[in-house]
Amino acid sequence: MIPNQWYPILPAEEVRNDKPTGVRRMGQELVLWRDLDGNLVCQGARCPHKGANLADGRMKGNAVECPYHGFRYGPDGGCKAIPSLGAGARIPGSLRVPVHPVREAHGLVWLWWGEERAGLPDIQAAPEVADNPKVHSTLHWTRPVHYTRYIESLLEFYHITYVHRDHWFNYIDYLFLYGTPRKLGLDGKERYLSATKIANHHLETEGQTLRYSFDHQDEADPKNTTHYVITFTFPCQVHVRTEQFEATSWLVPVDDGHTEHILRWYEYPAFKPVLRSEKLRRILPWMSLYMEKWIQDVQDVRIMERQEPKISEGGVSKFTPVDELNAKYLAMRSRLIQEAAESKAAKETAAEPLPAAEEPGPEPAANHPAPANGRRTAKPAANGKGLSAVRASRAR
Ligand code: FES
Ligand SMILES: [Fe+2]
Repeated sequence: MIPNQWYPILPAEEVRNDKPTGVRRMGQELVLWRDLDGNLVCQGARCPHKGANLADGRMKGNAVECPYHGFRYGPDGGCKAIPSLGAGARIPGSLRVPVHPVREAHGLVWLWWGEERAGLPDIQAAPEVADNPKVHSTLHWTRPVHYTRYIESLLEFYHITYVHRDHWFNYIDYLFLYGTPRKLGLDGKERYLSATKIANHHLETEGQTLRYSFDHQDEADPKNTTHYVITFTFPCQVHVRTEQFEATSWLVPVDDGHTEHILRWYEYPAFKPVLRSEKLRRILPWMSLYMEKWIQDVQDVRIMERQEPKISEGGVSKFTPVDELNAKYLAMRSRLIQEAAESKAAKETAAEPLPAAEEPGPEPAANHPAPANGRRTAKPAANGKGLSAVRASRAR
């Protein structure tokens, strides 16, 4: 997992003010709820009393109540009531749950996963997602695969000819997306299966966004081409656009063995002129989401579950030139993990207390002037503090 990033964790509408919502993300159990002013609250879900999950509890005033013995925790994480000790009992300040920074944006709840900072950066979302005016629907589900493999599968589309074929649903795709009106769509399957080549691929990098365009085409009939633009934004947002459809996936780590796929499907441009009502325009994206959840995505997961190794990183694959986006993703991912580890190590070193006294060295102290701030220079990763940096750099 890449630290110091905003991760979307679920659609904002799923967090209610009348009951807590539990999710597992970034290897942690979290509880989300809304305070009496409607503000979003995200906390560690483990009750510090005896470890029950607060998401199984209920709302009580401006607090979440543990389902086991009724301890209540306010928006600041502090315990506000221990019913078994009676009203007015002294509650230790240490009885609290961790509070995590969260924000609402683009219809989702975003969790800051990383070091504490006075001012957190803005949420990263490419304009294809942030400024997209199209009507859309959103659905999410969990799969038993590592997020690197999941992201990889969405950064290329030349697997589709092999993975997404021969199911009855794929025939709908053949008919409507690939078939020609001249042949009433019946040539769709043949056209779909013969487009196996990637041509005209082009990759651009802009901050944390990678924009990749290419043509998926039939070598023997270059007119049989689908033009794709894939826009990936770290840590986990994949936006895909073709002439026929448009979708955004967020592949969010649940833990080292599972990923949450939050999928947004936009209205089909072809149907917009005939479907006037926004509600009606939402129906086809909604159907596409269910088809993805139950059919297309299942076809991908069948492959990904059996991939080795389970976690992708630089050097584990023999990429070809058309895997340019995959390679760039992995390289930038390891760079961001490394930068986060260095930032953490630097903060820990800065917070290190000064040594009480030092043994005099063999040479006069004047030969070893102290730095201007009175601190010793940061030691490299081999020392004790560096270990946490190394550990962080291994966080996957
Ligand atoms: S475990 Fe939560 S109140 Fe006892
Ligand atoms: Fe796929």
